[in-house]
Amino acid sequence: MRIITTILEMQKVADDLRQSGKSIGVVPTMGYLHEGHISLIRIAREHSDAVIVTLFVNPMQFGPTEDYKKYPRDFERDKKLTETVGTDILFVPSKEEMYPGGNLTVVDVEKITNVLEGNFRPTHFRGVTTVVVKLFNITKPHIVVFGQKDAQQAIVVQKLVKDLDFDIKIFIGPTVREPDGLAMSSRNVYLSSTERKDSTVLYQSIRLAQQLINDGERNSSIIISEMSKLITSKPSAKIDYISITDASSLEDLAVLRPNDSILILLAVRFGTTRLIDNILLTI
Ligand code: PAJ
Repeated sequence: MRIITTILEMQKVADDLRQSGKSIGVVPTMGYLHEGHISLIRIAREHSDAVIVTLFVNPMQFGPTEDYKKYPRDFERDKKLTETVGTDILFVPSKEEMYPGGNLTVVDVEKITNVLEGNFRPTHFRGVTTVVVKLFNITKPHIVVFGQKDAQQAIVVQKLVKDLDFDIKIFIGPTVREPDGLAMSSRNVYLSSTERKDSTVLYQSIRLAQQLINDGERNSSIIISEMSKLITSKPSAKIDYISITDASSLEDLAVLRPNDSILILLAVRFGTTRLIDNILLTI
């Protein structure tokens, strides 16, 4: 596995790969990799000749009071893990390489970035979309793999690719979970042992919603209120939002109708750790 740290070298290698007829698959990450990330690398491996994993903790997508400084990092471990699953290139730029100063350009997707995560993290998606477009221009992918775990991010990136005519196919990999249902996340290491136990309520509430819908419930506010009751039964849990939305517009659905593509999303804080989860379904 080759490790590349400069934009110029990465672009040159990507050009060479393209010129030799190889397809490029990219998995953007912020590192501290877990089985969720690995599953995306496997998808990229399956659909492309050369796999590039990018590892960059992007300061632009963190709010001023968020965890940029303490975000977990372990380069040696990430290097081993990516190599084991057949990554060809690990692109690891420094902050200075990506943002040398003087940048005046941002990429902003409107409307669908103002709700849900965007409502609680107002500058987050502009940071994500800007770095993602930079990474596209640096790694020149044919395909890019994102995770369903960050459902709104996946929707925003797909809209960006469509609106700006990027010649890139986006794959969305399913959410990988711990045996007790908690969605894997680099941020799970922040949880105390009590919070970790309580955090299983996220997935339990998703399962409860699924059960209610299977039993015929179609009223979103009833489903949300049942989920909320279950979550707040855990003393360490504080709900930021629970929403039932249309899976492409992210507009709230008051009543669920057959053939709707439904996305149930939630964000819950356990102490100072904020976790998100979601499920995509149709009835
Ligand atoms: P990060 O949180 O490191 O996640 C990298 C990719 O892994 C994202 O596409 C995310 O949705 C996916 N992922 C995370 N947990 C997952 C899980 N349990 N199962 C499946 N996929 C999972 O998301 C980011 O980084 C950044 O915003 C980034 C896109 C790299 C831009 O900086």
